Amino acid sequence: MRYFKSTDLPQVFDLATRALKERYNPNIFLDLSPYWRQGFIVLEDMGKIIGFVFGITVSSVEARILMLAVSEERRGHGFGALLCRQFFQECASKGIRLISLEVRVSNHSALRFYEKLGFVAVGEIKEYYSDKEDGMAMQLYL
Ligand SMILES: CC(C)(COP(=O)(O)OP(=O)(O)OC[C@H]1O[C@@H](n2cnc3c(N)ncnc32)[C@H](O)[C@@H]1OP(=O)(O)O)[C@@H](O)C(=O)NCCC(=O)NCCS
Repeated sequence: MRYFKSTDLPQVFDLATRALKERYNPNIFLDLSPYWRQGFIVLEDMGKIIGFVFGITVSSVEARILMLAVSEERRGHGFGALLCRQFFQECASKGIRLISLEVRVSNHSALRFYEKLGFVAVGEIKEYYSDKEDGMAMQLYL
């Protein structure tokens, strides 16, 4: 597990495209990651990126997870939880107390996953995604 570097972009973008429904401009990774390097963590196995978590700070006490993905063939082995726990540690060491995120209401597996990590659903956001699907806002107090 290590921090993202710019040469990871092709693999991270490919994983994000395969794992997430939302389509992101690849520039988002390079534009936002310099602001908080420790909030962008990748998991690498034999040179292949098998998962990543990408978060940003929104205030001195709050961070947001923008994206989290584990490659399909490596799911269910604790890697998603590992990435999140490392992210929580990075947050704690920066004095962050609240982590927020949004998940598609239809993404039951991610909702269950985040609940297991201690996140609480705090309300739906109507038509949050570009295809007009609603989002579920979730929060975790460290
Ligand atoms: C969500 C995701 C990151 C989880 O990664 P993962 O490596 O498979 O998850 P883990 O193996 O670390 O699971 C951690 C816990 O969540 C639970 N969990 C994971 N997937 C689950 C599912 N589909 N249904 C119910 N619980 C699930 C596990 O049972 C585990 O609990 P345990 O510790 O009690 O066994 C992965 O499924 C993924 O990449 N999904 C596609 C992208 C996505 O939806 N991202 C989130 C929205 S941004």
